Amino acid sequence: MYQNIRTVGGEISKPDATVCLIVGEETTLHAEDKALDKRLGGVLSAARKRAECTGDVGEVTPVYTNERRRYLLVGLGKAGEIDPKTLRAAAAGLIKALDAMGVARVHVSVGYGVAALGHAEAFGRAFGDGLGLAAFTFDDFKAATKKKTKVTKLAISTTNAVVTQAMSSALILAESVNFARRLAALPPNVATTTYIAAEARKLARTHTRLTCKVIDGKSLETNRLVGLINVGKASKHRPCLIELTYTPKGRSKGCVLLVGKTICYDTGGLSVKINNTMKGMKYDKCGGMTVLGTMRAIAQTEPQCTVVALLPTAENSISENAQRPDDILTYPNGVTVEVANTDAEGRLVLADALVYGCKKIKPDAVIDVATLTGGVVVALGKECAGFWCEDENLQKKLEAAAEATGERIWRLPLFNEYKEMMKSQHADIWNSATVRDAHPIQGAAFLSYFVDAKIPWAHVDIAGVADLEKECPPFVAGPTGFGVRLLSQLLECWGR
Ligand code: BES
Ligand code: MN
Ligand code: ZN
Repeated sequence: MYQNIRTVGGEISKPDATVCLIVGEETTLHAEDKALDKRLGGVLSAARKRAECTGDVGEVTPVYTNERRRYLLVGLGKAGEIDPKTLRAAAAGLIKALDAMGVARVHVSVGYGVAALGHAEAFGRAFGDGLGLAAFTFDDFKAATKKKTKVTKLAISTTNAVVTQAMSSALILAESVNFARRLAALPPNVATTTYIAAEARKLARTHTRLTCKVIDGKSLETNRLVGLINVGKASKHRPCLIELTYTPKGRSKGCVLLVGKTICYDTGGLSVKINNTMKGMKYDKCGGMTVLGTMRAIAQTEPQCTVVALLPTAENSISENAQRPDDILTYPNGVTVEVANTDAEGRLVLADALVYGCKKIKPDAVIDVATLTGGVVVALGKECAGFWCEDENLQKKLEAAAEATGERIWRLPLFNEYKEMMKSQHADIWNSATVRDAHPIQGAAFLSYFVDAKIPWAHVDIAGVADLEKECPPFVAGPTGFGVRLLSQLLECWGR
């Protein structure tokens, strides 16, 4: 698969392939493609009328001519059903076909696409997203069965400058999404706590507006990061708090704190995960990888606000040194926590980052992203992330970013009664109530005890959307990088 996809301005010279977009019910070509069809002696319109050319989403019909250049018809689906989501899937079909054919230079005639959305920029973004996201493969660990890539670079053009520009930004952003997905996909014996810290440092070295600091060892104690210390106790891979800071050029229009749950592996701890629910827990670092991917993205797009990323990083393992159910932790904000279940570890380490971040950074807003609960998967499935936000302004901003990027989020309640539910027998609160009621909300309610009440805060539970078991174009099975596009969009608009 391609490692690099770039747009070129104007119509690309000597393309290996020319693509015309087609629409389900219409058996005609778009007006813009008629001259080309005529020049080719009507082969395009003839192919469009073939029975097997249905125009379904992502269907690619090759048209045979005696030229070396290929002509392809790519289906966008039924006219009334075309939206950014179907366009991403259609682009995914195209990129797979181009890769299989070893195409290095392609021109896309976007007539029907722009017409269907009625908006060149939205079309370019969706199509670029689809191309870039579908170009993700994770075969680093395939040896004998590794697929050989014929061509690693693809150059793409359209004749619509607005489309090309939007596609170009989407393709660049998709590289940061794929960066997050690659890290998320790495197995726990490779992507250890120190490995992730090294990746964060590497990011800061390659981008001048990023700086990185890692709190580990003895400094965990001086900073009283009790969640990390206790959750990470059982693993030989020592816990740490990774802090990445983005400083904008010129006057900063505010400061946003991003917190990402980075549990490199979640065995459940002594409250061990049973019945094969442990497999896949390498994805428990996805919140942190989304935040890292976002930092990489904004280091390129350079928004006008300061952004601090905190990644509480640990492995939730088992040994005689492991924390126990019944342990009580005292956080530096004074809140005491009874560990009722060592498998509710994410909230324990997020609490550290929230207390540390609110106090030290004093941000204008805090957003945490975490694969926090199985309950949110039960509630919302793979279609959207759950989110909690009691600040109307921040809520609106997040919802607008979700709308713009297609990374859906759905707000759930955080009534005081839920916060009451977290009160424990032996300490102020426990990390999991004795009842199974409202599991995903319990997570949010717990976290609320660690955020400065004056600071607008949102919690995003991505447990359902962080990875896919089955392919869902433009995504292959595996991590999705959910949230990188959403957060990048939010930060791009911050202070505007
Ligand atoms: N990492 C899990 C949540 C999770 C579950 C993510 C399934 C993705 C898929 C989290 O640490 C966890 O174990 N949560 C428990 C909390 C419970 C013990 C209070 C859960 O949701 O069951
Ligand atoms: Mn857990
Ligand atoms: Zn977890």
